[in-house]
Amino acid sequence: MLKACLWRDDTLSHALESLWHRKANPVTATHAVVAARTILEVLPALVAAPDDPELRSRMAEVSLSAGLAFSGTRTAIAHSISYPVTLRHGVTHGIACSFTLPMILHSLADADGLHGRALRDIFGPDLRVGAGKLAAFLDGLGVGLAPADYGIDAAAWENILAEATDGPRGRNFIGATTRLHPVAPRAA
Ligand SMILES: [Fe+2]
Repeated sequence: MLKACLWRDDTLSHALESLWHRKANPVTATHAVVAARTILEVLPALVAAPDDPELRSRMAEVSLSAGLAFSGTRTAIAHSISYPVTLRHGVTHGIACSFTLPMILHSLADADGLHGRALRDIFGPDLRVGAGKLAAFLDGLGVGLAPADYGIDAAAWENILAEATDGPRGRNFIGATTRLHPVAPRAA
């Protein structure tokens, strides 16, 4: 069920992409933090009760919040990576732009300013720990965290990262793609 949600809806990716975007601002960050925190809380509950109207309503509301966030910035590196992953390896959009979220977050462990504050509002003071918890969250949905899980070998992954970095969405990213490596899941 959770994986099915991600196939159809990459709301979490939309929220986080707007936070590590160069154009993030207090308005977009506020929407993004609300969306991400709510998704991390509500999705597991929705698995247990997929027909619960209150939970479904909350997810719909934060999908709007994430939309407001990234409509003020656009998307960034996760989406830039996702397009060749989808086109060349047949990975559904929601998964293609979600499996990299932990590694991207880990690469921003030393982020400061608005970007760092907003990410720590979601994932706690240590973003390396937060990245491990996010990896555990996705792992719990059955989402593979490594390029190899999608049939992407090391050479293909290097090409994807290089292309993604050079693309317009890649240039929106506040970090460096040279530090993107899969993150091991970490217990909460
Ligand atoms: Fe998307």
